[in-house]
Amino acid sequence: MNKEIRTLLAFAAPYRLPLAMGLGLMLGESALALAVPWLGGRIAGTFIPEQAGAWADPQLLLLAMLAVLAAQALLKFGNLYILGGTADRIAADLKIRVYDHLQALPLGFFHQRRQGEALALLTHDVQVVSGYLSGSALGVVPLFLTVLGALVFMLRIQALLAVLAVILIPLHVLLIKVLGRRLRPLARQLQEEHAQAIAIVEENLGMLPAIKTFTREEEESERHRKQIEQVVRLSARERRIHAALGPAIQLMAAIAVVLVLWLAQKALGHGSLTPSQLVSFLLYGQLMTRPMSGLADLYGQTQRMRGALRPLAEVLAQEPEAGRHPGKRMPNIQGGIEFRGVSFAYPGCAPALKRLDLSIAAGQTVAILGPNGAGKSTIAHLLLRLHEVSEGSILIDGVDISTVSLRSLRRQIGIVPQHVLLFHASVRDNIAYGRPEPTQEEIEAAARAARAHDFILRLPQGYDTRIGDRGVRLSGGQQQRLALARALLKDPPILILDEATAMFDPQGEREFLQACSEVLRQRTVLLITHRPASLELADRVVRLQDGALAQSGEERGALVSAE
Ligand SMILES: Nc1ncnc2c1ncn2[C@@H]1O[C@H](COP(=O)(O)OP(=O)(O)OP(=O)(O)O)[C@@H](O)[C@H]1O
Ligand SMILES: [Mg+2]
Repeated sequence: MNKEIRTLLAFAAPYRLPLAMGLGLMLGESALALAVPWLGGRIAGTFIPEQAGAWADPQLLLLAMLAVLAAQALLKFGNLYILGGTADRIAADLKIRVYDHLQALPLGFFHQRRQGEALALLTHDVQVVSGYLSGSALGVVPLFLTVLGALVFMLRIQALLAVLAVILIPLHVLLIKVLGRRLRPLARQLQEEHAQAIAIVEENLGMLPAIKTFTREEEESERHRKQIEQVVRLSARERRIHAALGPAIQLMAAIAVVLVLWLAQKALGHGSLTPSQLVSFLLYGQLMTRPMSGLADLYGQTQRMRGALRPLAEVLAQEPEAGRHPGKRMPNIQGGIEFRGVSFAYPGCAPALKRLDLSIAAGQTVAILGPNGAGKSTIAHLLLRLHEVSEGSILIDGVDISTVSLRSLRRQIGIVPQHVLLFHASVRDNIAYGRPEPTQEEIEAAARAARAHDFILRLPQGYDTRIGDRGVRLSGGQQQRLALARALLKDPPILILDEATAMFDPQGEREFLQACSEVLRQRTVLLITHRPASLELADRVVRLQDGALAQSGEERGALVSAE
């Protein structure tokens, strides 16, 4: 719990001021609440003939009561307003922080989890924690103050009766413990099931075409329904305990009040308690029952918060990618690449690359061939440091890339990935993604080179056409051409084309190759491809097999004829 409290305090620290203000207002409100029974007693006293006149003017007392109640309402408004705003702020800041952190984590982190789990952090967990900080956790202070204050006043009125109330407190705590013991694992499970439900929706919306074409709607509906039902079931179980807790405590407190009433009747008979004192006493007793159930509620809230805090803290504790901070810059790249004894395995998998030695001279266009799963894309990813090598090193112009900042490295390498990634934005913005503020001419030139310009002009709004989520409104080949234009516009000294023309029609591919042979000559190009036409561009061909070089350096002509 210690570590959890520290994490929680660290989350709350930046909001000290508004939280303290809210707390101050709450304390003011509970202090006023303590004045109400006292005033109530005095007012009751005015109804009793033998006591009338012993206290202040009855009208004045009523006015004072009104003033106290009004002030209480005002303070309550103030604290709800301030704390509500603070809760929003904490949630917003936490979301920003968690998102930024997720974005900084290595890709490997996401390959081991479902995306929905990350989404659950940003939707569910962050809300629970911020609500707890600004609501339940803070509210406990005035609750305690009310209980304590009421006790002090009761002690002053009639010590014996007050002691009775004190004796009952440990009983209350015990009841909370017993009922609440099952809440903690439940809260944790609930959080996990909730994350699963979000993960299913997130994944299925992306898989919708597959779901429809394989007519899996019923099964997927069922899977989602089951998950939601599971959440509801757990939630109901949690609520049962939750719901029982407050009323149970309140009932116990009420029984105590009746007990006190009974004893008070006796005290009244003996003359050791005046009627007006009895009224105050009962009102204080009443005042105590509310915080008691509030404390029980806090216990439940705390368990729920712990369920949400755990995954948040876990993710925030993950190390971001090495080299994110400005460090040594990668000098301007000429383009010589060397893999020296590079081994790499994806987490928990067999090695994808085994002691790979590969050297590429600056300005060369090297085709990398090999069967599916040979490790071709992995080479590209390692060069961009999307993953770090397990063994060996990768040098560009003799500089070990693991020693330079990621930004300076990645800015000088362009890639058309095997799986094209496009945004829900205009064609223009998608092409311009890798280069700050390009001119329209530059964008068009890149689009022309990627054989995309003509089809773009035929789109409803030309370059301003929005292409839908992940580019769904474009054909596969069109998507690929945009990705290619994007990489060409970046104009990097090293260009990686991972099956970049795999979806081109032969005519388009030929045109692209002709148009680009000049562009490609000026830089180092890694050409991952199975297409003979593309191979013609290569100065050299290397063949990869099971993560190691099968053969390298053949003459292009020899290889093409062997294909
Ligand atoms: N994210 C990942 N996590 C675990 N294993 C992976 C991951 N990506 C690839 N692999 C594995 O690494 C090996 C090399 O994959 P890679 O993507 O480099 O192959 P490839 O040569 O590009 O194949 P293809 O021609 O199909 O594109 C494969 O065995 C694959 O299963
Ligand atoms: Mg690949």
